[in-house]
Amino acid sequence: MSKENNMSYGTGDTSFQAAGGEEGIRKLVDNFYDRMGSDPRFSTIYNMHPDDIEISIDKLARFLCGWLGGPKRYQEKYGPISIPSVHQHLSIGTDERDQWLTCMKESIDEQAYEADFKEYLIFQLGIPAEVIRSRSNQ
Ligand code: HEM
Repeated sequence: MSKENNMSYGTGDTSFQAAGGEEGIRKLVDNFYDRMGSDPRFSTIYNMHPDDIEISIDKLARFLCGWLGGPKRYQEKYGPISIPSVHQHLSIGTDERDQWLTCMKESIDEQAYEADFKEYLIFQLGIPAEVIRSRSNQ
């Protein structure tokens, strides 16, 4: 894909469409949590999650839907959200941040997304991940 296309991710619902809409995002998040739950490299962050992982899957998929410019599914079901605040009770340092980003990168790589969208998406997710780390009390 051309650079021009890459520049347009982030405007309107381009990113939401590039991720395959709600179905594509759900596939990504299912893959992400399956990986997190089965690979010991990610056990620290998996163990921070509540027992019912289906709720975390639902929340992240709905959140990413709106974050990528699609419908605001998280707010429809769960109300307003601040990403740093919902992580404030957790201890997230560089190791935990990097586990999350590595797990997400490997999951993104398995999706049928355009190569430039994969790069764009993991770069963009690094921004809130770093904000979460910097505000954590670890
Ligand atoms: C920096 C590394 C991160 C770690 C270790 C992490 C870990 C977690 C954990 C353990 C939970 C479950 C908390 C609970 O239910 O008690 C959670 C929830 C959540 N995370 Fe993260 N997360 C990270 C980054 C992100 C990023 C970058 C995003 C979004 C772009 C995100 C979005 C969410 C959402 C939407 C929820 C559900 C919040 C709720 O309604 O309770 N997380 N995260």
